[in-house]
Amino acid sequence: MYEEASHSLLNDILNQLKPEISEQDLRHFYTRLGANFYAIHTLFHRLYGSRPDFEKQMLRLVETMARQYIKRPKRLREIDIEREKNYNWFLSQKWVGMALYSNGFAGDLKGVHEKLGYFQELGVNLVHLMPIMRCPEGRSDGGYAVSNYREIDPRVGLMEDLLTVAAGMRERDILLVLDVVMNHTSNEHDWAQRARAGDPVYQDYYYTYASRNIPDMFEQSMPEIFPENAPGNFTWDEEMGRWVMTVFNEYQWDLNYSNPAVFIEMLDIILYWANQGADILRLDAVAFLWKKIGSTCQNEHEAHLILQLMKDCSQVTAPGVLFIAEAIVAPVEVIKYFGEDAVIAKECEIAYNATFMALLWDAVATKNAKLLMQGITSLPVKLDRATWLNYVRCHDDIGLGFDDRDVEAAGYEPVTHRRYLLDYLIGSYAGSHARGVPFGQNEKTGDARISGSLASLVGLQYAVEQGDDRAMEDAIRFILLLHGMILSFGGIPLLYYGDELGTINDDAYLDDPHKFSDTRWVHRPTIDWEKAERRNTPGTVEFRIFSALKRMISVRKEIDVFADFNNRELIEVSNPHLFVFERYNLLRRTESVLVVGNFDSRPQALDLRQAGAWSRSPYGRLVDLISGRHPDIVNNILVIPPFSACWISEML
Ligand code: GLC
Repeated sequence: MYEEASHSLLNDILNQLKPEISEQDLRHFYTRLGANFYAIHTLFHRLYGSRPDFEKQMLRLVETMARQYIKRPKRLREIDIEREKNYNWFLSQKWVGMALYSNGFAGDLKGVHEKLGYFQELGVNLVHLMPIMRCPEGRSDGGYAVSNYREIDPRVGLMEDLLTVAAGMRERDILLVLDVVMNHTSNEHDWAQRARAGDPVYQDYYYTYASRNIPDMFEQSMPEIFPENAPGNFTWDEEMGRWVMTVFNEYQWDLNYSNPAVFIEMLDIILYWANQGADILRLDAVAFLWKKIGSTCQNEHEAHLILQLMKDCSQVTAPGVLFIAEAIVAPVEVIKYFGEDAVIAKECEIAYNATFMALLWDAVATKNAKLLMQGITSLPVKLDRATWLNYVRCHDDIGLGFDDRDVEAAGYEPVTHRRYLLDYLIGSYAGSHARGVPFGQNEKTGDARISGSLASLVGLQYAVEQGDDRAMEDAIRFILLLHGMILSFGGIPLLYYGDELGTINDDAYLDDPHKFSDTRWVHRPTIDWEKAERRNTPGTVEFRIFSALKRMISVRKEIDVFADFNNRELIEVSNPHLFVFERYNLLRRTESVLVVGNFDSRPQALDLRQAGAWSRSPYGRLVDLISGRHPDIVNNILVIPPFSACWISEML
C-alpha cells in the first residue's frame, strides 16, 4: 500500500516536472529514480514527514536530482554506466592515494596540474585535494569553513584550473577526491550573513537561540572538540543577537539538518561537484550531522538516515561517484557509516580507518603489537562493497581513541597508557626520539591528541638535528614499516603529501596569527621541490624513502589478494613485537600473502608453525615481495629485521 502511494507520488512529481525537462534524454535517470524512489521517499518521510510542507519539499528534492542529471556531462554519464556494471571497481588493489593541500604541494591548482607526472612516478592514482572551495582569508580551519560552496578559493585558482586538473587526471586514470564540508559553514557564508541580518528562513539553516536555555541543555552532554581554541559548543553572535551552535571553531556554524531545505541545498552542492568531475567526495565530520539534547550529538541514528538518503539520491543522478565518511569515532560506531543496520541501506562506500592509524602509533611508541592486535581483533567486520582508507598521517592530529576495554585486554591501564603514548610521541619520555606536538589538550578531561609529521614522529628530525646515523636508519625503517602495513592491510592506502620524501615538522605556522594556536599546521608542509629532486640521488633520505615506497606501491598493485574483499585473517603469534596477518584469495585459499610487521628495534622471530600452512611451504620457494629476496628462515623460524615489514609469498 505504502509502496503504491510512493509510486503515485512519483508519477505526480514527474508530471509536474515534465514540461521543463521532457526534451532531455532522461532514460537512465527515470530507471534509477524508479529503483530508488521507494527508499528515498521512505527516508525523506522518516526525517521530515511531520512537516506540513513535506510534499513540496519532496518535489524540490526530485527536481534537484533531475536538474543536476541534465547538467551531468556526457563522459561522466558514461563512466556512471561503466561503474554500475563493474560495481566493485574501487575494491581493487590498484588504487593508491595521496592527500594534499594544493597550495602546500604545488602553489595552486595549476601547480598541481604540472605535477601530475609526480603522482605517476610514485604510483599514486587517487588524489585528494584538500578543501578548495572559497573560504575566509584567516578564519578558515584549513578550508573547512566554507564561505561559498560553488566557487574555488582564489588563492588556489579558478574553476577552469580545477576542470583542467580533473581532465588531466582522468586521462591518466587518476581519481579525483574533493571535500564537501557538510556539517557546517563559515560564518561568512551567505546563509549565515542572511541569518545575521535577521532572516528567519536562514536562521533555520542553523541552530540559533535567543537565550542560553537550550544551549545550556545541549552543553550538558556535548563534549568539546577544540577545547583549547574553541571551548563550548555555542557562540554569541552580536549582530544576530542570538546564540549559534558552533561545535568546531566559533566561526564554523553547524548546519541544521532537521530542516529539509538544508538537506536539499547540500544534495545540490554534492551533485554540483560530482558534475565538475570528482570521482569521490569526502564528506567531512559526518558523525556530527544530527543534534539531539541529552546526547553527545555524535553518531545519532538520524545522521545515518541523512547519509543513506544522500547516497540514494546521488545514486540516481551520479551513481559512479563514491562517498568517503570522515568519522573519527569509536570502532563500533565508525563501521556504521558504511550503512547502519542493513546490508541494503548504504551510506559511504569508504571510511577513514582512524582505529588502525591510532593503533599503528601505539605500536610505534610501545615497540610491540599487543594493542594493535587486540584493537584490530575487536574491529567489527565491515559490509561487502565497502572499504577502508588506511593511513599513517593526515592533515589532522592523532587521537588516541582506542576502546578502553582493548587497552585493558592488552595489559595496560587506560589513563596511564594514554599518558605514556602522549609523552612518548611528543618526545618527553626518556629515550624517545619523537618530535610530536600536543594538540587539543583538555584540562577538564585529561584528553590530549598529537600533531607532528610522520618523519618527525618517528625520529627523523631528531636524527638530522643530532647527526645520529643509527636514529636515521631507524626512522627510515619505521616510515617504510608503517607504509608496508597500510599498503597491505586491505583498503585504499592514503599517503600524506611530503611523507614520501621524509618531510619534517614545519614551524612556520607559529608566525601566522591565524595559525599559531592550532598545532596541526606543524604537519601541513610546503613542499620544497628542489629538495624533492634529491629523490633521484641514491643515498639521500629522499631517495631511500621515495624509491622504497615506489617499489612497494608497484608490488601492491600486482598482488590480487591485496584487493579488499574482507579477505584478511589475523594470525595470533606468541611474539608480542610482531603484527601478523594473512591476505588470501577467497576462491583459492592457498593463494595468499603473509604480512608481518616487526615493531621492535631488534630482529624478531616468527615461528611459522603458528602461521598455519606457512610452515609446510618449501622455504626455498618463499620470497619477501618487498625486498624481492628469500627471507631468513631457520628451522621453521622466520627472522624479521628490526622495524620492518615483509610480505611473504610462495614463488610461482
Ligand atoms: C574534519 C577535518 C578537520 C576539521 C574538522 C572541522 O575533521 O578533517 O581538519 O578541523 O573536520 O571541519
